[in-house]
Parts: sequence; structure tokens; C-alpha cells
Amino acid sequence: MIKAVIFDLDGVIVSTDHYHYRAWKALADQETIYFDEEINNRLRGVSRMESLEIILERANKSYTEDEKVALATHKNNIYVELLDQLSAADILPHAVELIDALKLKGIKIAIGSSSKNAKKILKQVGLYDTFDAIADGTDVTRSKPHPDVFLVAAEKLQIDKTNCAVVEDAEAGIVAAKNAEMLAIAIGAATLSDLADAKVEDLLEIVPIVK
Ligand code: BG6
Ligand code: MG
Repeated sequence: MIKAVIFDLDGVIVSTDHYHYRAWKALADQETIYFDEEINNRLRGVSRMESLEIILERANKSYTEDEKVALATHKNNIYVELLDQLSAADILPHAVELIDALKLKGIKIAIGSSSKNAKKILKQVGLYDTFDAIADGTDVTRSKPHPDVFLVAAEKLQIDKTNCAVVEDAEAGIVAAKNAEMLAIAIGAATLSDLADAKVEDLLEIVPIVK
């Protein structure tokens, strides 16, 4: 029985993909590293430093750990400045309607995001006080596909992991949900995952799944 739904944030509740892309692209251009949408797709759900490692696969020089931290910080500075433009208009279709429907059924809702900017994003779009719990990149050291962020969310909600469903747009997130022994619901790019328990095209399709 599902008592809580844990949502990934980027690409499920809020559309931030294009801002991530622009910030990584600016960094890649500065370092003259090839970067495109396909590489960007591999960054979905993955932590900032792991994303940087994926981008640096195309670099023709090697970077020290300190240089890598500086690059990731630079990317984040660009990204955070872009996030100032975020508003309720960037909330993904039917996210608010789904949240309302789940609340009506007495189902708890949480965020389980790899991002260290999750709280800023939620504030920007006006959803900061909407969730019963927020677990994000500041709560864990191991990012998705490790289950940690979802387990922290369940713990904050005080709901057993086996009573939780996860909504994810990233393969890494679907794997993380299964590693957490939760029901994994895929949307967007994650629907390509063989591990997903359910696949939806629209967030509102989740209502009957968790009833
Ligand atoms: C995830 C995104 O939610 O957060 C990834 O899907 C991103 O693309 C990751 O790399 C970490 O985000 P941040 O905001 O901490 O750099
Ligand atoms: Mg995502």
C-alpha cells in the first residue's frame, strides 16, 4: 500500500534541464570541450561532480581535483544565476494538480533530489512549503543510483520505504528507487528504463497507480 510519493525535482516537478544545459555548455565552451544535448541527457539525476566527470570524458587535458572543484563551482555559479529567472511558469504540467489529488487522498508527498539547489528551486517556483519533507543533495554523500536520498525522504516522512512510490525522469533515479525497495514510476526519459514498475506520459496518470 502506497502511503507516500517521493518526487524527483528536476524534470519531474520543475523544468530546469535547459538551465543546467546552458550552464554546462558555457563551462564546456570555456574549456573547449565538446558538449551536446546527448551528453547532457547522461547528466540527468547524476550529482554535480559526477556530471563534471562525464563532461571531462571529452577533454583533451587532465584536471587536478582542485581544478575540478573550481570548474564545478563555476558551473554552479552560472546555473544559480540562471535559476533567478525561474518562476511558477516552470512548474511542469499537472504537477500541482497531482500534488493536490494526492493530498486529498491523505498520501504524504516529499522531494528526493540529487540537487544541492533543490530548496532554492522550490522557493523560486513557490512550492517550498508544499511538501511534507525535502531530501536533497545536501542530505547525502552518495548520489542516485544509490538509494540514500529516497531513504532519507522516507525517514523524514516517518513512512516505511516499502510504502513509498518514487516518480523519476532519470534512469539513475529509477535504479535508486529500486535499490530503496520502493515502487518506481517513470516519466519522460526514464520510461526507457526496463526497471520501472510503471511508466506514465502525464503526471496525472499517477493518481490511480498509487490509490
Ligand atoms: C539532479 C539533476 O536533479 O541534480 C542533475 O537531474 C544535476 O542534472 C543534479 O547534476 C545536481 O544538481 P546541483 O543543482 O546540485 O548541481
Ligand atoms: Mg530528474
